Amino acid sequence: MSDQTGSDVAVAMHGIVKRFPGVLANDHVSFEARFGEVHALLGENGAGKTTLMNILYGIYRPDEGEIYIKGRRVTIRSPRDAIRLGIGMVHQQYRLVSTHTVVENVILGLPGNFFFPDRAARRKLEEFSEKYGLHVDPEARIWQLSSGEQQRVEIIKALYRGAEILILDEPTSMLTPGEIDELLGVIRRMAAEGHTVIFITHKLDEVFDISDRVTVLRQGKVVATLETARTDKPSLARLMVGREVLFRLEKRPASVGQTVLRVEGLHALNDRGLPAVRNVSFAIAAGEILGIAGVAGNGQRELVEALVGLRPSTQGRVFIKEQEVTHQPPRTLIERGVCYIPGERLIGLVPSLSVAENLILRNYCQAPFTQGAFLNYGAINEYADHLVAQYSVATPSLKTPVKLLSGGNIQRVILARETCRAPTLLVAAHPTSGLDVGATEYIRQLLLAQRDQGTAVLLVSEDLEEVLQLSDRIAVMFEGQIMGILPADQADLETIGLMMAGAKKMSVPEVV
Ligand SMILES: Nc1ncnc2c1ncn2[C@@H]1O[C@H](COP(=O)(O)OP(=O)(O)OP(=O)(O)O)[C@@H](O)[C@H]1O
Ligand SMILES: [Mg+2]
Repeated sequence: MSDQTGSDVAVAMHGIVKRFPGVLANDHVSFEARFGEVHALLGENGAGKTTLMNILYGIYRPDEGEIYIKGRRVTIRSPRDAIRLGIGMVHQQYRLVSTHTVVENVILGLPGNFFFPDRAARRKLEEFSEKYGLHVDPEARIWQLSSGEQQRVEIIKALYRGAEILILDEPTSMLTPGEIDELLGVIRRMAAEGHTVIFITHKLDEVFDISDRVTVLRQGKVVATLETARTDKPSLARLMVGREVLFRLEKRPASVGQTVLRVEGLHALNDRGLPAVRNVSFAIAAGEILGIAGVAGNGQRELVEALVGLRPSTQGRVFIKEQEVTHQPPRTLIERGVCYIPGERLIGLVPSLSVAENLILRNYCQAPFTQGAFLNYGAINEYADHLVAQYSVATPSLKTPVKLLSGGNIQRVILARETCRAPTLLVAAHPTSGLDVGATEYIRQLLLAQRDQGTAVLLVSEDLEEVLQLSDRIAVMFEGQIMGILPADQADLETIGLMMAGAKKMSVPEVV
C-alpha cells in the first residue's frame, strides 16, 4: 500500500505539538491521510483529536511540527488558508445562520455575481445532490432542518469552497440511525471520487463501518496507524484505552426496597402541542434500575421532562415515596432527592462558568457556599476539589470554563454534581451518548453503584445494549405508550425489538 514517492499522500502532519495551559493536547503527533481514503481518527475523550484537526484547519497554530499538503510544506494560519489549500471541516456544533436559507448559507462570505448571487450555488447544489446523495432543499431555512440536513449543508458548504480533504468531527453524534446510514453513503461516494475524508470518532463500530485506515490517539500521542481490515474491535479498544476493556459489567443482583417513584396514567404534550406521553404508568423501587428502551422520538424525552418538572403533564399523577409531586417545580423535586442527568450535556451546565461553579449550581445558595450576599470561594473550591478527585474529572484547574473540557469530562462534571448526594431518584437520559468506551464504562459502573446504594434509577437510552446490561426491568415505549415491562432476565432482543416497532404489546401489570 505504501507509496515510496508519497504521491498519494494528501495530508501529512509531522511532530505536531500543541500545549494548552496545564495540558499537552498533542504530543509529537504524526498523521498521514491519502487521497480517496476514509481515515478514522480514534481516541478517548480528551485524546487530542479535535485539537489536531483544528490545527490542520488553521484554528490553532501548532507549537511545533510541520504540515504538508500534497507533498508541499505549508503554514496554515487561519481557516481561510486551509480552505485555499482544499481543506474543509465540519465541527460538532454546526456554524450556520439559522434564519438564512440553505443557499444563502452556502454562499455566505464568498464573492459572487452581483445580480444573481446564488445562481452558481444552485447549480452546484444540484450537482452535489446527484453526485454524492447530499439532498437538501435550497430554499429551506436552517432552523427548519433536522440535524442530519444541517450537517449536509455544512458538507455542501465545504465542498462548494473546493474541499478535497474533508474533516468530520464526530459526525454521527447528533444523527438518528437512518441519518447515519445516509451520511456513511455520502462519505463512501466522496472517497470514491478521490476526496480524503478524516472521520473523528470514538465509536469502534463506525471505524469498521466506514474507514480504510485508522489512527489511534491516546493522551495526545499516536499509538498506532492501522489498516482497518487487519485489526479487530478488542485490539482497537485496548489501543485506545491502554488496557483491556470490559464489554461485560459486574452486576450484582438487585436488592430492591420500597417504591420510590410511582407514575399513574401520565399524559404530556410535545413542543408542538401534540400528545407525546399517553397514559403511562409504572413504578420504580429503591435499589433497582428501570430502563426505558425505544426508538428516539417516541415520547421518552417528554416523559423524562415531565418527571423532573421541566414539562407540564396534562393528566395523571406522580408520587415520590408516596407523596404526590404532580405539577411540582424542579426545585421541590430536587429537595425530594430527584437528580437528573440530561441527554444534551450543555443543557445541564453553564458552559462559560468554571468547573467549580458548575459543581455547585444546585446548591450555591446554601451554606457554606453562600455567606450573606457573597459566594464563599474557599468553601466552593474545597468541595469542588474533592468531587473532581472522586470522579476523576480531567481539568487543568477548578477555574477552567467547563466548555473547554472534553465531552467525557463534561459528563463527569454533571454526574458528580447529580450523584454526589445519594439521590432518592436518579433520572438518567442517554447518560453515555457521545462518550468513549472508557468513560462509558465508568458511567455505567457509577449508575450500578448508585442502584446498589439504594437509589431508584430511571434510565432512558437508545442504546439497547446499554439498557439490557444495566436494567433490572425494561419498559419499551412506542408512540408515547408503554408497550410492556419485562424483567431483564426475561427480556430477549426479539421481543423488545417487536415492542419498539409497535408490533407487540403486553399487558402492563397494575402498579402497586
Ligand atoms: N481551547 C482550549 N483551551 C484549553 N484546553 C483545551 C482547549 N481545547 C482543548 N483543550 C484540552 O486539550 C485536550 C484535548 O482536547 P480535544 O478537544 O482535542 O480532545 P478530543 O480527543 O477531541 O476529545 P472528545 O472526544 O471529548 O471530543 C483536553 O484535555 C482539552 O481539555
Ligand atoms: Mg473532540
